[in-house]
Amino acid sequence: MRRRTATLVWGIGTVTLLLSGVWADDHSFTVTADERTGKGEGTGGSAVTSAVQRGYHALTQRAFIPGFWTPRAVERAWQVWGLAEKPTNYAAAFRERYGLHPAPYPNDGLPMGLRTTQIFGRPAIGIDCLLCHGGSLFGTSYVGLGNQTLDIEALFEELFRADGRPVRLPFTFCNARGTNEADAFGVYLLGWRNPDLSLRSDWQNLGLRDTSCADVPAWWLMKKKQTLYYTGGMDRHSVRTLMQFMMHPLTTPQDFHRAEPAFRDIQQYLLSLEPPKYPFPIDRAKARRGEAVFRQHCARCHGTYGAEWTYPNKVIPLEEIGTDPSRHAAVGLAYGEAYARSWFGQEPDGWLFRGKPLRWTDGYQAPPLDGIWATAPYLHNGSVPTLYHLLKSSERPRRFTRSFRTERNDYDPIRVGWKFIEVTQPPSPDLPPIERRKIYDTTLPGRSNAGHTYGDLLSEEQRWDLIEYLKTL
Ligand code: HEC
Ligand code: HEC
Repeated sequence: MRRRTATLVWGIGTVTLLLSGVWADDHSFTVTADERTGKGEGTGGSAVTSAVQRGYHALTQRAFIPGFWTPRAVERAWQVWGLAEKPTNYAAAFRERYGLHPAPYPNDGLPMGLRTTQIFGRPAIGIDCLLCHGGSLFGTSYVGLGNQTLDIEALFEELFRADGRPVRLPFTFCNARGTNEADAFGVYLLGWRNPDLSLRSDWQNLGLRDTSCADVPAWWLMKKKQTLYYTGGMDRHSVRTLMQFMMHPLTTPQDFHRAEPAFRDIQQYLLSLEPPKYPFPIDRAKARRGEAVFRQHCARCHGTYGAEWTYPNKVIPLEEIGTDPSRHAAVGLAYGEAYARSWFGQEPDGWLFRGKPLRWTDGYQAPPLDGIWATAPYLHNGSVPTLYHLLKSSERPRRFTRSFRTERNDYDPIRVGWKFIEVTQPPSPDLPPIERRKIYDTTLPGRSNAGHTYGDLLSEEQRWDLIEYLKTL
């Protein structure tokens, strides 16, 4: 038993982070004019500019955790795909199999999110934040765009197999392609740590659940938000929350201490990001009419846009928003308490919520909608393929699949989001898991597409006007 547990924890190691939810009562507060410009902590001054540059460098060039695989695992992965010979354009085939994107910075020829590092002093391949937080659109890669195509379960399983070390993952990493169980990584990995982040000899279950199906949020939203994560449970000012990803089994408490200044810079870089602009024509008259619809039906939760923007930072209770509750349940009290007691929770003060870096909330935060055209599929679980479907709940597909490519002809500029194919039957149990995960089945746990019905009562004309306006954000 003991030996098996050890295999699991050493085998999978880490990926990420996350938490949210824990302790306080208020639902909302408005961003003030000072915070609005982001001057205090975001973009002003040359000291900040160089922090932004250092942050970008750390994010794209520095390995914060040891690797998982030998370099040969990447070269040989095709051997576990069931092919007779290596595909001719292997780099592209590799990216497509796992939903990875070319790195827009020097990365030893590896796609974004994989990186050359070491383990026990030997070269190895590891992962970094950009596995999930780097994406591409129409042939351009973006740092900070959520990776909407990733199958992190196939990536981990197959690279271990290609390395000749098949590993059973200790929980599901991905239920539906393009989403992942980032919250479960945080809960699982903290269960192996003492409050000072030294390793425990036994695993403590802090409420592990692996059906959140979280779609990765865009980093450029952070500059407007005062809180982090889908539940709005964490204070945006926290640096250590960004470091949960470092809970690889081989990182020591000293590694965390040493990396904290770099993560302070990474935070400044994240706060400097801007969304890409909608690249196709926009009908300005229609968009102006849509803006009026938005102000009347949407702004109270999502704020207003343009130079004088406002953002209410509101969390909407689950009963009211009605979207899938699994993500909310995935980060509970046991985890929150362990987090608060740990090194992560012991940051110097300055918190928004009475001395707490984290709080419990009763729902999901209404996110800023900047760059919303670029971040389909929609809702926290990626259950709705386009803005049109988001705004007309009766039309949302029950089961659908898509190309999981991000080229121009994969995109639907009319309904705004990804083109998809409706699937009428539940996927056959004989389908290999990597194919099954390509079918988004909203009848399964964590994947409900219910709720957020605020667009339902609009006339069809108002809805199209509103979609035109959303392209401008
Ligand atoms: C396995 C994929 C994965 C990796 C790796 C990962 N993240 Fe995330 N990240 C997510 C997901 C999913 C969420 C949404 C979490 C939620 O609230 O459920 C998220 C949320 C966040 C947020 C909150 C954004 C917001 O608007 O609320 C920040 C900040 C963040 N991640 C930073 C990082 C940093 C920095 C790293 C690397 C040190 C990292 N993440 C690595 C998947 C990942
Ligand atoms: C009562 C508050 C409220 C109102 C009114 C509201 N929303 Fe939302 N909206 C939310 C919340 C909360 C979420 C996050 C729900 C989730 O992910 O489970 C959300 C999510 C969204 C998303 C998905 C964001 C993403 O990144 O996936 C879009 C797009 C959106 N809303 C647009 C609109 C539009 C357009 C309107 C007006 C017709 C509107 N909303 C009205 C609260 C609201």
